[in-house]
Amino acid sequence: MTDQSASISLAQKYGSPVPRYTSYPTAPHFSESVNEGTYRGWLGALGGSDTLSLYLHVPFCDRLCWFCGCHTKQTLRYDPISTYVAHLLKEIDLVAAAVGGAPKVSNVHFGGGSPSMLRPDDLGRIIARLRAGFSFGERPEISIEVDPGDITPDRVEAMAEAGLSRASIGVQDFDEKVQEAINRPQSFELTSEVISAMRGAGVHSVNLDVLYGLPHQTETTLSSTIQQVVSLAPDRVALFGYAHVPWMKTHMKMIDESALADIDGRFAQAQLAASLLVEAGYERIGFDHFARHDDTMAVAARGGRLRRNFQGYTDDPASALVGMGASAIGETVQGYVQNIVPTGLYMAAIKEGRLPVAKGFALGPEDIARRWVIERLMCDMALSQNATKEKFGELAGPILLEAADLAQGDEDGLFVADGDTYRVTEAGRPFVRVLAAHFDAYLKQGKARHSVAV
Ligand SMILES: C[S@@+](CC[C@H](N)C(=O)[O-])C[C@H]1O[C@@H](n2cnc3c(N)ncnc32)[C@H](O)[C@@H]1O
Ligand code: SF4
Repeated sequence: MTDQSASISLAQKYGSPVPRYTSYPTAPHFSESVNEGTYRGWLGALGGSDTLSLYLHVPFCDRLCWFCGCHTKQTLRYDPISTYVAHLLKEIDLVAAAVGGAPKVSNVHFGGGSPSMLRPDDLGRIIARLRAGFSFGERPEISIEVDPGDITPDRVEAMAEAGLSRASIGVQDFDEKVQEAINRPQSFELTSEVISAMRGAGVHSVNLDVLYGLPHQTETTLSSTIQQVVSLAPDRVALFGYAHVPWMKTHMKMIDESALADIDGRFAQAQLAASLLVEAGYERIGFDHFARHDDTMAVAARGGRLRRNFQGYTDDPASALVGMGASAIGETVQGYVQNIVPTGLYMAAIKEGRLPVAKGFALGPEDIARRWVIERLMCDMALSQNATKEKFGELAGPILLEAADLAQGDEDGLFVADGDTYRVTEAGRPFVRVLAAHFDAYLKQGKARHSVAV
């Protein structure tokens, strides 16, 4: 980390594009060498002592927000969703039959897209099929991503019946000019009503997603949005920087780039929003989450049990993540798998009775060590030298030398040695992805373009 010029800001210096490290190695390094046969082996190796997290991807929305980077498709008809659900049910049967032993399901997460579009009978059918195929723990966490515009009384009732315990609701921003620029109208009143309805249905934890770096956002508009968000008393807030990647998502070309803040502006927005949330009593979790002191994510973070997976930060302790649905990603001790992304091809594979695996990554011993180091840095903002040596023996040597180099070359007080432990300081927290990237052995292979780090 050598300074190029004294006049450049930290955001300019460390805001270079890097991965979000929701996996290590990251998805651009997945390849077809991991296929259905590989995955069947990994699923078969699961046993009764494992715990399972199930992820179900629903790649449909009834609107298309121009900022959206998710795997989703707009549909105003329900037919494509019905057809998709029929295939998803079949995939549940195929995966359940391939799983060895009887690992207990601790978590079920419906992501998307907007799984809140699922009709009540379809949500019920999916949950029933999961319960028939897998062995459920006593009180599994069942969570869903919700677009408030989809919510109707019968959907809320179905969610209560399904035993839903967590909801993640998209806010993004309450400012009308910003909403117009991202094609996402959504009133504060509707959001508030949906939160009340969810809580009434037994949802004990509500997360709100908020974005900074959107077109026309300023520190003033963002602080109003944060005040409104705080008034809704969410248990958690996810504060994401808008990732502008029009080369991957062509609808982002609808966004006026001249209305986007520059890197210093983005950084100022992120810092302001974070300080307002902390002032309101939320604890900082990792680099982009906030949670109430008694929320399980905050408790896990304080106890060193925070994890990072494809959904971002989580307190889910499961030893394996099984992803179902088009584009879904799974993770076992052996490695990662990703399902086929285009829904037509995904359904064709299921129709033939195949697990719809597109690609993946089989982890070697060094990958496992680096994955752990990156996860601990991203979650704990710290890396214990003794713990690294104890876990990985000889493999720890070169990695800890890299940590020593990083701390020695750091002129900005972002990454410091503190006895046995290397710590990411509060100044370093917003740049933890850049610090983590120092331990990424594949980054230089340059397989992907990433969004900026702040
Ligand atoms: C699946 S959506 C949430 C549920 C629902 N579809 C909704 O929009 O309310 C997941 C979240 O990812 C975040 N997101 C989507 N596109 C993004 C982007 N380009 N950059 C950063 N965050 C993004 C948004 O905050 C969004 O709420
Ligand atoms: S932000 Fe949510 S509702 Fe909007 S397109 Fe993306 S997944 Fe769909």
